[in-house]
Amino acid sequence: MNHGMFDPKEFIRKSMEEIRVRVREEKAIAACSGGVDSVTATLLAHRAVGGSLSAVFIDDGLRRQGEPEFVAQLLNRIGVRYRCLDAKDSFFKGLRRKEDAEEKRKAFREIFYRKLGQIVREEGARYLVQGTIAADIAETVGGIKTQHNVLEQIGIDPKEYGFELVEPLRHLYKPEVRAVARELALPEEVSGRMPFPGPGLSVRVLGEVTPGKIEVLRKATKIVEEETRDLRAFQSFAVLLSDKATGTKNGERVYGGIMTIRVVESEDAITASVVEVPYRILFNISQRITGEIPAIARCLFDITHKPPATIEFE
Ligand code: XMP
Repeated sequence: MNHGMFDPKEFIRKSMEEIRVRVREEKAIAACSGGVDSVTATLLAHRAVGGSLSAVFIDDGLRRQGEPEFVAQLLNRIGVRYRCLDAKDSFFKGLRRKEDAEEKRKAFREIFYRKLGQIVREEGARYLVQGTIAADIAETVGGIKTQHNVLEQIGIDPKEYGFELVEPLRHLYKPEVRAVARELALPEEVSGRMPFPGPGLSVRVLGEVTPGKIEVLRKATKIVEEETRDLRAFQSFAVLLSDKATGTKNGERVYGGIMTIRVVESEDAITASVVEVPYRILFNISQRITGEIPAIARCLFDITHKPPATIEFE
């Protein structure tokens, strides 16, 4: 894919104009998870319509450690009015007993948009701004996986949830979104941020999602991010498998979880290649995960490119 010809200044100018013409005197709510796509979409809309826009962070209980605080600080810093909706119980309840990857994704999407519809209604808004990008649409329409933030392209009318969609980034791929984020002067910790899937850690717990498994995965995620930071990979993360394995800790038998480490390089997430992570780093990760997390007995490293695998496991 050639991303060379893109002019972020011109894109911002046109996009702001389009948002302004569309939203006019109405109110808009931006769904902001803290990732580069949603923050960029939020800021574009904020620059376009100012006080007619406010943002919402849905705390689904499936984010990385410290994420709600990160988003709150960021939105305060860039001057966007914002609220956090605690919806953890609804998400865990909706995901209960769901084991199939696509069934989980659809359940997540349904709760996500019902919650956003509720907020749009409460705020008297008409529009929902979201950071869906071209890769999300391509994967969903191509039948690879139902990304949580694609509706109209698969025949779902957002009005069913009580809003109309504003998706300023829907024709862009990741490198262009990052260029727009930099042009908007977002800090590098946002513009260069590692992608994180909309359904969060739920797509990295294989099989049924429970608060306990998410807590274990959250700890492992932090360890992997810390240990691989210097690699500056496109994505590096942990995945909790649904099987168990036998191990021994402090001379006693353990029958515990299996964590898989995935580190990939990519430009636009359409294809990805496995990073040749030095063994020293892999051993550190394995030792820390099995040492710091009692529930984990074993660590594996995934050596599958995309294709044939996808980046996420579900
Ligand atoms: P896959 O797993 O399809 O992922 O190779 C491609 C990129 O998209 C991210 N991803 C998602 N992002 N909603 C999102 O916003 C989703 O449902 C979703 N699923 C995967 C993934 O992390 C990778 O960067």
